[in-house]
Amino acid sequence: MAFEEFSQLSKRRREERAQKYKKKILLAVLCTFISLLCIAIGVFSFLYFTDKQIKSDKNNNVFPPSSKKEHVKTSSKIIEIICEPTDYKKKCEDTLTKVVRTDVSKPSIDPRAIIKATISAAMDEVFKAINMTHKFKFDKPQDKAAFDVCKKLFQDSTEELAQSMKQVEEEAKSNHIKINDLKTWLSAVYSYQETCIDAFDKGNMKNQMKGVLSSTEEYISNSLALVSQIFSAVEKFKGKRNLLATVDSHGFPEWMSHEQRKLIVKYTTNLTPDLTVAKDGSGNYTSINDCLNSLPQNRTKRINIFVKEGIYNEYVTITKKMVNITMFGDGSQKTMISGSKNFVDGVRTFETATFAVLGEGFVGIALGFRNTAGPEKHQAVALRVQADRSIFLNCRMEAYQDTLYAQTHRQFYRGCYITGTIDFIFGDAAAIFQSCLLMVRKPMENQQNIVTAQGRADKHENTGIVLHNCRIFPDKELDPVKEKFKTYLGRPWKEYSRTIIMESTIGEFIAPEGWMPWEGSFALSTLYYVEFNNHGPGADTSKRVKWAGYNNSISRQEAHSYTVTPFLQGSWIRENSNVQVHFGLYN
Ligand SMILES: *[C@@H]1O[C@H](CO)[C@@H](O)[C@H](O)[C@H]1NC(C)=O
Ligand SMILES: *[C@@H]1O[C@H](CO)[C@@H](O)[C@H](O)[C@H]1NC(C)=O
Ligand SMILES: *[C@@H]1O[C@H](CO)[C@@H](O)[C@H](O)[C@H]1NC(C)=O
Ligand SMILES: *[C@@H]1O[C@H](CO)[C@@H](O)[C@H](O)[C@H]1NC(C)=O
Ligand SMILES: *[C@@H]1O[C@H](CO)[C@@H](O)[C@H](O)[C@H]1NC(C)=O
Repeated sequence: MAFEEFSQLSKRRREERAQKYKKKILLAVLCTFISLLCIAIGVFSFLYFTDKQIKSDKNNNVFPPSSKKEHVKTSSKIIEIICEPTDYKKKCEDTLTKVVRTDVSKPSIDPRAIIKATISAAMDEVFKAINMTHKFKFDKPQDKAAFDVCKKLFQDSTEELAQSMKQVEEEAKSNHIKINDLKTWLSAVYSYQETCIDAFDKGNMKNQMKGVLSSTEEYISNSLALVSQIFSAVEKFKGKRNLLATVDSHGFPEWMSHEQRKLIVKYTTNLTPDLTVAKDGSGNYTSINDCLNSLPQNRTKRINIFVKEGIYNEYVTITKKMVNITMFGDGSQKTMISGSKNFVDGVRTFETATFAVLGEGFVGIALGFRNTAGPEKHQAVALRVQADRSIFLNCRMEAYQDTLYAQTHRQFYRGCYITGTIDFIFGDAAAIFQSCLLMVRKPMENQQNIVTAQGRADKHENTGIVLHNCRIFPDKELDPVKEKFKTYLGRPWKEYSRTIIMESTIGEFIAPEGWMPWEGSFALSTLYYVEFNNHGPGADTSKRVKWAGYNNSISRQEAHSYTVTPFLQGSWIRENSNVQVHFGLYN
């Protein structure tokens, strides 16, 4: 599929505009059948589909698909990319699928439609939740009183969501953006749900309410994430006319980040597989190892290996000789490489990895790496990376203790989902984790969780773990019992352990002292642990450890030295045009 075909666009746009208008009317009609809620949306839709909108459609980006099937694939990729900043991707994707697929001939990315879709999905959930509470029986007067609090908050929630919708409408007309209002309202709605849950005393009713509201919270969290991402671009171009509807020279919407645009290009143009691995026999090989073993030794060009959807139960090593490989999957939960080697069964930690990368210049995209040994098997690595200039985009690393062994050399992780319990990111690489979601799992009864265990052993080493613009949260199973387990940001595996957490969001479940010793006073004065400009309820550093090596007040300049260019000599990341990366600090 070619992205260069933009000269054909204007003609196509004209044809499609008419078609699109028809589709919108159809949608509005359909909507009225669905539910009472949709009547509200319908009103907005009516405003929305005024002639102004039709005019601005002219500017909307279009993605010329070469076939319908390919279009479906492309639009779902685009949805995946748009949903990248959200925590609940499946819900986000389901919500947006409805919007993007309204037009069968081409996907259109209208930011207003996206925002409205996510807000209305959240609203839907609130109504559903209210509905479910009708069945609740309150035996105790305290519960009854708590529920009265909730009822008021539900009311506030629906009002503020409606207000948010209206704001998006008005913004579309006046092009005057009140992003902060929108974010404030959505944040308020989120906290209403929390307040409602908090109103109940510990016990059955509280749990029930929590269960009913969890989905609502997830939808609101998604709305917030999407609103933030769409408007952060807009904010930068204040004053520019109708930015939301304009596209850049390549036909991409300007509100998308540069990185996202690149990713879309990549998904739709650049990454043509040289070789395909498919379990179902539709590729060149059915196993990853067969494919790797077939590679010629004297290869001089980067090779793209596409691993189709499926669970690959194999142990894979990208050897030192296998340099410059790009391996991409169908999605980090679709293409999964799975193993179960572990320490308890007699394998040394180092050798437990399901997937090990030694070959320089490896790029992994949309792949999942898993070790299924479980917490009772102790150390059990999913991914071990020893390769210089290695990059992982939108990947998933899933295990319990020691999930990701970022062993040596320069490594860049972006948009990855990394989950585990003890020391689940460890090693002695110079590794930056950018915009990753670190989800802490429930450990065994007598255990605690530690996010990082960096292993810098000598003060001259240029290594360290940097978490930049990441989010650290408990997963679904840990969350309800998080008070029972302590979770720390890190502990010093080696004497000069170095970990920097900056511009990240830290959940409240992190222990107030933040960091944990390895053994006695080992490394406490030689390590270097820094927290810089983090946010979230767990980011308060006032009760943090008082070790000589810990610092919560470094200068901007010092923080900057842990960003991509200085810390990873990051120009090699640029070489690979597929990679989304943020240089420098965010704020
Ligand atoms: C609320 O519940 C009623 C029946 O109890 C059902 O008919 C209705 O569709 C529900 N509404 C929503 C928004 O779930
Ligand atoms: C891999 O499969 C593709 C598509 O069937 C084919 O064009 C290509 O020649 C195959 N490559 C090898 C090395 O078998
Ligand atoms: C690589 O080696 C194969 C045989 O081992 C040979 O046929 C091929 O010409 C070589 N390619 C290059 C680029 O040297
Ligand atoms: C691998 O890629 C790097 C950077 O593009 C290049 O300098 C090197 O020559 C490549 N090596 C091989 C064997 O392809
Ligand atoms: C933290 O680092 C800054 C320099 O960036 C230094 O001035 C300050 O004294 C350090 N604080 C501690 C507690 O080491």
